[in-house]
Parts: sequence; structure tokens; C-alpha cells
Amino acid sequence: MIRPDLDFLNHGSFGATPRCVLEDQRRWQTLLEEDPIEFLAPERSLLPKLDLVRKTVANEIHASPQDIAFVRNATEGVNAVVRSWPLRSGDEILVTNHGYNACINAVGQAADAAGASVVTANIPFPIRDPEEVLQAIEQSLTPRTNWMLIDHVTSPTGIILPVAELIELAHSKNVRVMVDGAHAPGMLPLNLDELQPDYYTANHHKWWCGPKVSGFLFVKEDIQNEVLPSIISHGANTEGYGPSQFQSQFNWPGTFDPSPLLALPTAIDFLAGLYPTDGPNRLAGLMRHNHELAVAGRRVILEKLNLPEPAPESMLGSLATIPIPAWGNHSPDRVRAIKDTLRSKHHFELPVFRFDTANVCLRISAQAYNTLEQYERLADAVAELS
Ligand SMILES: Cc1ncc(COP(=O)(O)O)c(C=O)c1O
Repeated sequence: MIRPDLDFLNHGSFGATPRCVLEDQRRWQTLLEEDPIEFLAPERSLLPKLDLVRKTVANEIHASPQDIAFVRNATEGVNAVVRSWPLRSGDEILVTNHGYNACINAVGQAADAAGASVVTANIPFPIRDPEEVLQAIEQSLTPRTNWMLIDHVTSPTGIILPVAELIELAHSKNVRVMVDGAHAPGMLPLNLDELQPDYYTANHHKWWCGPKVSGFLFVKEDIQNEVLPSIISHGANTEGYGPSQFQSQFNWPGTFDPSPLLALPTAIDFLAGLYPTDGPNRLAGLMRHNHELAVAGRRVILEKLNLPEPAPESMLGSLATIPIPAWGNHSPDRVRAIKDTLRSKHHFELPVFRFDTANVCLRISAQAYNTLEQYERLADAVAELS
């Protein structure tokens, strides 16, 4: 649906949904409106439909369907978990300086309410290798740390964190790990059976291209009873809302539109058909294509501006963030003006933002509808503005 006169290099923020997926969503909405009670009442036909989607998600991420609940988005998934943590005064929760502001706010509020504190591990950026992530986090762990929120793919810097190693490190110190994987499904192969996070949440509407909005929350079986949704509803005390307390609580957040969830299998089927691959990961071809495009697009910009790599290619999926040294001292107004010019004069939509005191960055996304030529023109436009 992207306007043809727009160079949309920001798939990472809210995704973009293919027409056939929106048509499928519309079909579900029509079925709902034709017979609202039969369709929407959990004890009638809604739960089996949700369970089919749950199975699709479980297959893609290699997890058990019983361990998956649905949420509107990753922000809601993180909120549900951190607000359920039995925090005590003096506890420490570890986050990183590459974390997503909204989710860090949720951690901060839960910590404030309990008299706990939030410790920020400073991962360098530019970064040379994943070892620097492990070092930054290991140095920030203390005997008081009992929870950790880490991103699978960081939002501002677009790097893949070594989550398997981080989970292992955390568990060796009895620290529970929540992974914010907002960007991961559709960008990276996921195997939660192997990763063994305590909690993992992600969006369906980013790289799986599902309709806005939906996401999942995975919670390890033995701690599911601790986790409450952000919205308490009938499922808390009513039979028929799900096979376990966990699913029953999350299945019904009050009257809601399930069509984004129900159209998700169509979205994943559509993506799988773009670069068909044999083997257990049917999106492998698309993931490879998008990664190669992001890396090639970043190379074009780095070469045009004569800049070094801010992160190794092996730490990238289909996002790439590039600090632009010529913009490093710009005021917020000048940074905004650059973003506005890229949009109004050059028709590019992408984030331009200050990451820290030293770095003003741009972030590119690469999805199947993007082309290398777009990044070449972006490189010319950025060179003109720097
Ligand atoms: C790492 C990360 N977490 C959470 C979110 C929030 O996503 P949503 O607004 O869909 O909850 C984003 C969005 O870009 C993100 O990048």
C-alpha cells in the first residue's frame, strides 16, 4: 500500500501490510459483523480460531502453543511481565542504553513503585563485536540484580544482541530474562525451545507484516501463573476462556478486534512465497534477501560518506543504523530539519535521531519492497546535507 511517490525506508517502526493480508483481515471483519455473538464470544467460536493462530506462531518460533499468549504489541507484553514481577525494595533490574524507551519506562515505573532500582548497562556504539555486549552486561550485574530486560534487535542501533549467551549468563547468576524481540519474528530465525528465555515478547505487525496491531508473549511454563495481563477481565474467574490460567487471563482483554491476529497466517504465507525456501525456516529466503539488502544499502551510504562500519555486518538483520559525524553537534531543531528535508525535498521516510551525546544517526530498514537504488539516492541526499 506504500505510496509510489514515497521512498519508505522505515519498515522497522510500524511495518507495512500487503494488500492480500488486509483483504484477509477485511474478510474476517465481515464474518464477525455478519454474526457478532457467534464469532466473538469466547465460549462459541473465537477460541478455536485464536488457537489456530497460536499454533502458527508456535511453529514459527519453535515454542509450545501452551506457552504463548496474545497481546496488542511488544509494549503491552513488556508491561504485563514487568508489572507482574514481585519486586522488593533494593532489587536491581538491568536494562541497556540501546533499549526501547517505552519499555524502559515500564521497568522504571515498576521499580519506583517497589523501591527497586534500574541499572543501565552501557553497550558501546559504534560496536566491534558481540563480546562487547556481553562485557557491558556482565560488568553491570551485581548480587542484587534479579531481572533483566534485553532486546533481541535494538531499536535505535539496529544490532542483534547475543541473546543466547546473555540468557545463559543471566541464568548462571539466577537472573530472570525478559527478551523484547519486537523486531525479531520475520527478521531472524527464532527457536525459543533452544533459547530458553523466561519471557519473550514480539510484534506481528513489524517483520511478519501482520495487520496493525498484534503480538505475542511467551512465558516459561513454570512461571506463567505469576504473569498477569495489563487488563484484568473475565478470564480471571470464569471457565471457558482458555485451558490454563495464563491463557484464560490473556485471551479476552474485553471486547476487541481479533482480525489482525486472524490474518497473521496469511501474512506469513505471503512472505514465505516471496523467496521460497525448503527446510524448517520457510522465511529463510526472505530473511537472507532483506539482510543482504540492508547490508548493501548501508555499504553504499558508508562508501559515499567515507565512514567506517559502526557495527559488523554479522550483527545486522534487516535494520542498519549509521551515525553521521557531520551532524554530531547539531541542535534538536537542526536534526529535525534534516529529517524534514529528507522527507519534503527527497521523499524519504526514515528515522534521523540523536542516539547519545556523540551520535546523530539515521536508520535504514530493508524489506522486500525496497531496492538498492533507493539507498543510493539516500546516500546522495545525505551527502548533500552533511
Ligand atoms: C525493541 C522494541 N521494543 C518495543 C517496541 C514497541 O513496539 P510497539 O509500539 O508495537 O509496542 C519497538 C518498536 O519499534 C521496538 O523496536
